[in-house]
Amino acid sequence: MNIAIVGPGAIGSLWAIKLKTAGHNVSLWSTSSEKILALQLGDQPAQQFSNRNLSEIKHADLILVTVKAWQVEQALSPLIAHIHHDTILVLMHNGMGTAESLQSLLPKNPLVLATTTHGAFKPSKQSVVHTGKGQTQLGGYNQSGSQCSFLESVFNHALPDTHWNPKIDHALWIKLAINCAINPLTAINQITNGQLTSQPYPAVISQVLDEVYLILRAEQIAISRDELGQTVDHVIAATAKNHSSMQQDIFHHRPSEIDFITGYLLQCAKSHGISLPKNLELYQAIKQIEQSWNL
Ligand code: PAF
Repeated sequence: MNIAIVGPGAIGSLWAIKLKTAGHNVSLWSTSSEKILALQLGDQPAQQFSNRNLSEIKHADLILVTVKAWQVEQALSPLIAHIHHDTILVLMHNGMGTAESLQSLLPKNPLVLATTTHGAFKPSKQSVVHTGKGQTQLGGYNQSGSQCSFLESVFNHALPDTHWNPKIDHALWIKLAINCAINPLTAINQITNGQLTSQPYPAVISQVLDEVYLILRAEQIAISRDELGQTVDHVIAATAKNHSSMQQDIFHHRPSEIDFITGYLLQCAKSHGISLPKNLELYQAIKQIEQSWNL
């Protein structure tokens, strides 16, 4: 397939290398103005990719968008006029709420949503490290996207385990719940994920999840409160040494994904007439930190 990766950060670069190794024609669209970019996974030989080539965008069968949620519209708007209406768009990022706006920008295109637990790290512009093997789930957002289940074998062949999930919204909501519990707390307190098991955090996480659970129920996401707690505990244990993405964004004074994680949850809560005071407090704390950089 002709595949373009928009936003070759750590996860995008990992997929770029894996999909190219699997035999696809992969190009990149990054902010760098260089026409050719080299990427190297671990100690494997570097691979060369065409970058910012509009002809590759025009002929893409699939565009994998791996920028952060708040960058999706900004990254795709200069490309919209060049994307063929049959090109499949796959969104892969933390948080929710971008599919709605992308659907209105490209109403005819098949839209697929993805969530992954693979860990990747980019120590330099050219090198990528696969820090943790995980799972990827894909599922259709619109009707034509729902007909793209063949992508399971395309993605799984390149980087297992990948599954097609006809109820992708379920997987995305669970990932959102995990991010609501881990990301703001680790960012505000500048701690690792594992430090969330020390006092006073377990009680705060419990409060956050009690509130998230109200929205999961309102959205008819089938999971018990116990299972939700166990899922979050499992992710904290599995990523104990990691710094969450929001911890890193706040540390480096980069805009965080808070509007698409806790912000998205609060918007849904509002539409259901439910108040979530603990999540609101964490949302406001992150916003306050971000605003303090501009003072
Ligand atoms: O955003 C992150 O950092 C990750 O989604 C997760 C699962 C919280 C692990 O750090």
